[in-house]
Amino acid sequence: MDWTNAAVMVFGGGSGLGAASVDSVAALGARVAIVDVNRAAAEAVAGPLGDRGLALQADVAEEEPVQAAIAAVLDRWGAVRGVVHTAGIAIAERLLSRSGPHDLDRFRRVVSVNLVGTFNVMRLAARAMTANAPDAEGQRGVIVVTASVAAFEGQVGQVAYASSKGGVAALVLPAARELARDGIRVVGVAPGIFETPMMAGLPEAARQSLGRQVPFPPRLGRPSEYALLVQQIFLNPMLNGTVIRLDGAIRMAPR
Ligand SMILES: NC(=O)c1ccc[n+]([C@@H]2O[C@H](COP(=O)([O-])OP(=O)(O)OC[C@H]3O[C@@H](n4cnc5c(N)ncnc54)[C@H](O)[C@@H]3O)[C@@H](O)[C@H]2O)c1
Repeated sequence: MDWTNAAVMVFGGGSGLGAASVDSVAALGARVAIVDVNRAAAEAVAGPLGDRGLALQADVAEEEPVQAAIAAVLDRWGAVRGVVHTAGIAIAERLLSRSGPHDLDRFRRVVSVNLVGTFNVMRLAARAMTANAPDAEGQRGVIVVTASVAAFEGQVGQVAYASSKGGVAALVLPAARELARDGIRVVGVAPGIFETPMMAGLPEAARQSLGRQVPFPPRLGRPSEYALLVQQIFLNPMLNGTVIRLDGAIRMAPR
């Protein structure tokens, strides 16, 4: 697909993997809307793009704000061709700890943002994409969503996070199969451990130890490496209906 002047929305684009993806899709020539629950973060990322960027605030788990964000992009640029969904939250809490069972509302919150949010954006963006004229390959749009290696190897303390990401991973194939009739591709990325503000909360020693667990390269991933894969997914029509691990061969240990 030719991304020159195409409109792309990056949900969660205010930080980390999303912010890096904003740069990589802009480098393909796209115009980029940065949608984040954190308005100031979205504005900071959109600023350098000038009139080729647009900052919008929305909670991905809510219907009306996501619909309004899509409407704003349609209004400004006339179409939505690409979506990158990186909005997400992580918590660490055991199913059963000394203080009792896992808090039910915190479990619901993680599933709501990570899984329901991904689904909400996917369904509303797909509807907008069906209005696009197909390119020479019949493509009307591309949707990239973000799972995690925790979808496959959740660690102790990751019951909520792993459940939410397992749901995202399982969503990719049935969505791609269904949206095939509209020429919309759906691809998931399952990152290993990446150096982003989400990981910055960990002590330096813990981050170094995590980095050493990566077989090669023995370090945390760089957001630009995630963004490079997003570029490839946008450009390569044969990538569809799969979840790609981007993890330096790490397989997470139980704890
Ligand atoms: N960093 C890693 O090691 C790693 C590994 C595997 C998967 N992931 C996943 O990659 C994605 C991006 O992670 P990151 O490390 O860049 O995190 P990050 O915290 O740096 O960025 C996440 C962004 O999402 C936004 N956000 C959070 N909740 C939102 C909501 N309800 N609606 C809209 N925006 C919301 C935040 O404001 C933030 O700007 C997440 O889904 C995360 O689970 C990250």
